Amino acid sequence: MSEAKKLFIKTYGCQMNVYDSERMAEAMGASGYVLTDTAEDADMVLLNTCHIREKASEKLYSDLGRLRPLKNAKPDLKIGVAGCVAQAEGQEIIRRMPLVDLVVGPQTYHRLPEMVAGTAPAVDTEFPLEDKFDHLPKRKALRGPTAFLTVQEGCDKFCAFCVVPYTRGAEVSRPPERLLTEARDLVERGVREITLLGQNVNAYHGGDWTLAKLVRELARIDGLERIRYTTSHPNDMEDDLIAAHGDEPKLMPYLHLPVQSGSDRILKAMNRKHTAEQYLRVIERIRAARPDIVLTSDFIVAFPGETDADHAATLDLIRAVGYGAAFSFKYSARPGTPAAEKPELPAEVADARLQELQALITQQQQAVQQAMVGREVGVLYEKVGRLPGQMVGKSDHLHAVHVDDPAGRVGELVRVRVTGASTNSLAAVRIG
Ligand code: SAH
Ligand code: SF4
Ligand code: F3S
Repeated sequence: MSEAKKLFIKTYGCQMNVYDSERMAEAMGASGYVLTDTAEDADMVLLNTCHIREKASEKLYSDLGRLRPLKNAKPDLKIGVAGCVAQAEGQEIIRRMPLVDLVVGPQTYHRLPEMVAGTAPAVDTEFPLEDKFDHLPKRKALRGPTAFLTVQEGCDKFCAFCVVPYTRGAEVSRPPERLLTEARDLVERGVREITLLGQNVNAYHGGDWTLAKLVRELARIDGLERIRYTTSHPNDMEDDLIAAHGDEPKLMPYLHLPVQSGSDRILKAMNRKHTAEQYLRVIERIRAARPDIVLTSDFIVAFPGETDADHAATLDLIRAVGYGAAFSFKYSARPGTPAAEKPELPAEVADARLQELQALITQQQQAVQQAMVGREVGVLYEKVGRLPGQMVGKSDHLHAVHVDDPAGRVGELVRVRVTGASTNSLAAVRIG
């Protein structure tokens, strides 16, 4: 038998890309490739890219520049570009960087083995009729007790700043029976927590199944202990999903619900289709169902036309909610989006607003972590800690927790009492 070929994958961007990278590794595994940790060691390098902000996109080109000496020394090295930049730029990537051998979009990576073998075109950014999931091998490469499961892809929302509807296409939900089968399979392989993924995961509609129905059916799988989902849109937080947060114990008390801005004028210009007040009312209903839920969000500062008053309204909304954490970004104009036509704000304004917003979020994050001290929560051990006798895992509320537990094993779900909080993690002792 010939020696296995080695594949190095670098993943940028969101969890959907993390999931896709795993599936691409498996697809290539069926053609004899095994994963390796360095590009130097590899026969093939695959860059799974993100197009969401300019910085993310440009990373691809700086990484490709760095691969040039390697390709010169090893002309047989295959270099592939996958993901959202691949979808957005296609052939242009090879024109700009001729060292790239193939370009594959997020909907066609099941064809990757044939592309590598030279039996399919080297650039494939179609949105094909067939479902890539029907053509992918079963998931074997799993490590650890947690897994992602993509249930929905694409977005029909067309926020004025965002490339996702163009790079990932229209909203498509995977059939529920397939998802239940995939989930059971994951659980048989030792997975105890599944995070359901979608660009708009709460817009999930598999036939007449809503996301809430999917969550409830998944919760019936023995051995699956925890369910999460991300990313949600405020307008798709339907009653049945909110109710599930109140009465489905396996659905964890954590929700990422991006709002982007607290100013109605800016929300309108962003085409978010809801007001700050409507968002706050959704939050109120979620908290009524599950009072201890930890909420996180995404914010964009310095969207075109944003005034000091608009920015102040965003800070007010943040104060009104009290977040456990948030991702915040300076607005980045993306080619082809409506907002890119509008004049941008000065960089200093964007920098100052970002700093102010992040300082407020950090305060809130610390307050939420501090409030956990003394409480009892569940922790799923994901790895052994750096200190002797220490285990590391996530709490129900998705806080990183360090637990003193010399007898602990990866994959155990334990009860702990939180004893301390630092900026990014909690300390705890095991009680059950
Ligand atoms: N579907 C999710 C988010 C996907 S993109 C949602 O609707 O919330 C992840 C985050 O990137 C967004 O929430 C937004 O905060 C940020 N983002 C998207 N486009 C951006 C842009 N052009 N500039 C800056 N941040 C952006
Ligand atoms: Fe982008 Fe808006 Fe769709 Fe989220 S909802 S992926 S921000 S267009
Ligand atoms: Fe980036 Fe594409 Fe995800 S643009 S954030 S990798 S959907």
